[in-house]
Amino acid sequence: MEIIISPDSATASREAARFLAARIRKNPGAVLGLATGSTPVPLYREIIRRHREEGLDFSGCTSFNLDEYVGLGADHPASYRRFMQENLFSAINLPADRIHIPDGLASDIPAHCAAYEKSILDAGGIDVQILGIGSDGHVGFNEPTSSLASRTRIKTLTTRTRSDNAHFFDSENDVPHHVITMGIGTIMEARAVLLLAFGENKAEAVAGAVEGPISANNPASILQMHPTAKIYLDEKSASLLKRRDYYRWVRDNKPDWQRDC
Ligand code: F6R
Repeated sequence: MEIIISPDSATASREAARFLAARIRKNPGAVLGLATGSTPVPLYREIIRRHREEGLDFSGCTSFNLDEYVGLGADHPASYRRFMQENLFSAINLPADRIHIPDGLASDIPAHCAAYEKSILDAGGIDVQILGIGSDGHVGFNEPTSSLASRTRIKTLTTRTRSDNAHFFDSENDVPHHVITMGIGTIMEARAVLLLAFGENKAEAVAGAVEGPISANNPASILQMHPTAKIYLDEKSASLLKRRDYYRWVRDNKPDWQRDC
C-alpha cells in the first residue's frame, strides 16, 4: 500500500488524476474501473480538464462501474448511470458502447452479474480501479462481512450506508435497500487500485483499512494484499493514522522514476 496524504481533497484528486492519466497515455486501450459518490467528483473534474486542455484521449478505453442501485434506471436522478453521465461521460470521449454499469433494472440479477464478470474478463481485466470508501469500510457496495473473495452480486445496504447516501435522494426512505456491486474478489483482480478518501467521517474506516487487521469487518483492509494499491487522503481522513509521518517521508523522498508507477 502506498499512502499519499495531501493538504486537501483537490490536491489529492490531482495526484490521483496524474497517475490515471499516465496509465492511459502508456496504454490507450486501458480498462478503467469507476466509482460514484461524492469522493471521485474532483478527480473526474481534473480528468475532464486534462481531456480538454491536454488532449487526454479516452477513445480507446473501456469502463466498468462498480455498482448500481437495484430498481433505479438511467432516468432516475440518483441512479449511478445518471451520475456518471453528468459527472464524467458527457464531457470526455469514452465511446458509449464501451461503458459498462450494472443494470439496476435487470430482470435476472444473478445472470446479469455473471455476464458483467464475463465482460470484465473479455475486456482483458481492469487496469486501474478507482475506489471511494464507506464510513463503515465498504468498497463498491461490499458492506462489512462481505466475503473477501466475492464476485459481482446483489448486496443489501446497511442502515449507516443508506443514511450516508440519503443526500443524493429526496429522503432516506427513498434510498434502495439493494444494490448490484462488483465483488471484493473482482476489485482485487484490477492491476492497480486507487482509493480516495476525504473528510473526518472517513478517518476511522481509513485507519482500519490501512493499519488494522485484514478483516471482512472492514472490507477495504483487503487492499493490504494488493500489489499496487494507492491510498489518496486529505489531512482529515488521515488524522487517525499512527504512521502518518512515515508515509509522508516515503512520499517526499521517492525517486522521480517511481512516482507514476
Ligand atoms: C460508489 C461506491 C461506494 C462509495 C462510498 C463512498 O460507486 O462504490 O463504495 O465510494 O460509499 O461514498 P462517498 O464518496 O459519497 O462518500
